Amino acid sequence: MAERIIQNDQADHGIFPAAFPSTRLRRMRQHAWLRSIVAETVLSPADLIWPLFVHDHQANAPIAAMPGVERLSIEGVLRAVEEARQLGIPAVALFPVVEATHKSDDARHALDPQNLVCRTIRAIRESCGNSVGIICDVALDPYTSHGHDGLLVNGQILNDETVAVLARQAVVLAAAGCHVVAPSDMMDGRVAAIRRALDTALHQNVCILSYAAKYASSFYGPFRMALGSATSLGTADKKTYQMDSANSDEAIREVSLDLAEGADMVMVKPAIVSLDILYRIKQTFGVPTMAYQVSGEYSMIQAAAANGWIDGQKASLESLLVIKRAGADAILTYFAPEIARGLK
Ligand code: PBG
Repeated sequence: MAERIIQNDQADHGIFPAAFPSTRLRRMRQHAWLRSIVAETVLSPADLIWPLFVHDHQANAPIAAMPGVERLSIEGVLRAVEEARQLGIPAVALFPVVEATHKSDDARHALDPQNLVCRTIRAIRESCGNSVGIICDVALDPYTSHGHDGLLVNGQILNDETVAVLARQAVVLAAAGCHVVAPSDMMDGRVAAIRRALDTALHQNVCILSYAAKYASSFYGPFRMALGSATSLGTADKKTYQMDSANSDEAIREVSLDLAEGADMVMVKPAIVSLDILYRIKQTFGVPTMAYQVSGEYSMIQAAAANGWIDGQKASLESLLVIKRAGADAILTYFAPEIARGLK
């Protein structure tokens, strides 16, 4: 059988030379140097934003659900920021692990200028000035006893009351020296309220990166374990404010509202499971668009790599490359330092 196919093939070629493919895309894939000069997407450390967990302890502590990631002391954060600077990673995103004693129904500790994240911001600004960008979440979940991003009254997350607190939280973060506030709460109208509050407090230069298309995703699991908000949240979910994964047009509406309200940059989250959304948003609006490769997306790759099922280094690099290919201007990723080191 195989012989006959070969014979036919040879015969055809003799009679119809045109049967050779006239375009051979494989020709340009022959060597690494050749592939590199025609690569359409190039990942660089400048595309990466490094999320950091900070806790109020002297020593760093591992996070079981996120192998390779630690809860850092403020000192540990300063070392990481210095490493980011040396690696060419332009910014870090800070996530505080808030002690249970500072959690309450009304999240009041979010507004305390002496809270952990504010102390961390000031420490970074003192030691690094403006050399590395500081991005901070605006949301109440680290501070609420119930683990929700907003105020919970009679089983409902109150929108407008939450927005009022978020606007104050953003001003507290800006006053501490944060460069970018990133509302991750998905309340309606929060970007406008935050912009107004920042401007009124003379923080016109503080940028807003809105988590515009943020899905109610199961891939945030390890992050919530890292923060301890998983236990607070219990079996509850965030589906009354975060987006339904079934929806795509709605993401476009979310982004257009946030831009109209004054967002400087928008974010899509999670990243790998929303590449279609990322692509659509970048194509539609052409504005600075970030993607967050979230904890579950990170841990999936790490878990498979730890089992020897995939090559973790190659898989993480590939995942970030395709996120950029889909349209991300920058990517929040826990792989940031490793990848930046590899790219150097
Ligand atoms: C909090 C917040 C979450 C993440 C970033 N900010 C979790 C959530 O919304 O429950 C997830 C990040 C990750 O999973 O890596 N509003």
